[in-house]
Amino acid sequence: FIRTVKLFDAVDSTQNIAQRLAEEGAPEGTLVIAEQQTNGRGRMGRNWISPPGKGVWMSLILRPSLPLQFAPQLTLLAAVALCRALKELAPLDIGIKWPNDLLVGGKKISGILLESSAEDERIRYVVAGIGISVNLTEDDYPEALRDTATSLRIELGNELDRTEIIAAFIRHFQQLYTLYQQEGFSPIQSLWEALSVTLNKPVKLLTPAGQVEGTPIGLSESGALIVRKPDGAQTLVFSAESSGPP
Ligand code: BTN
Repeated sequence: FIRTVKLFDAVDSTQNIAQRLAEEGAPEGTLVIAEQQTNGRGRMGRNWISPPGKGVWMSLILRPSLPLQFAPQLTLLAAVALCRALKELAPLDIGIKWPNDLLVGGKKISGILLESSAEDERIRYVVAGIGISVNLTEDDYPEALRDTATSLRIELGNELDRTEIIAAFIRHFQQLYTLYQQEGFSPIQSLWEALSVTLNKPVKLLTPAGQVEGTPIGLSESGALIVRKPDGAQTLVFSAESSGPP
């Protein structure tokens, strides 16, 4: 599945490198990995802390033959693959916070940023960016993030081998991507729901359309969160800037 791995010392963002390669025609299965990012990107225009040698900062090019509206399914698939890979290597209680943050004890250890390019509403390529905070210490995080971000090392008390993490992720991703291509989103949806820490707990979500309060009860076919509001009505949430207890 992985055709080429391109390793870099320092880059601005592995997303930029992978996007450039995809535009130049790089095939599905091209993986860009960097030791350090000087301008790592998170979702919602946030910055992603990517100090040298301490994490997994990588971007994977995919070229699924799918309508653009299904791209969020790939993010959820990547989150399941990553969660399985990390659980295999670290005896931690790791869960997925919708849509694709991995949390340990309520703190974030990993994030996924999916950026896609489409033509006539069909995916040309997708770049799945994966950031895993592996061996960062408290000092690597600014004060403001210490309550909400953590690393595998902080949680475990020891360092982990980044190569093993990458290998495990690739193995799980490949397995789930094959399942997805054969059977569609439904098995991935069930796996995601089983690993989710978001479902069945009341939340307040800040969405582009305003605040939504309610209880997430599942995922829709398109990967949106189905939220049951206090009046019993259900609503779909496609993206949210933040979420937390009401
Ligand atoms: C998020 O949770 O906000 C998503 C974080 C994604 C970070 C990864 S690190 C590798 C890739 N390159 C980037 O600039 N961002 C993604």
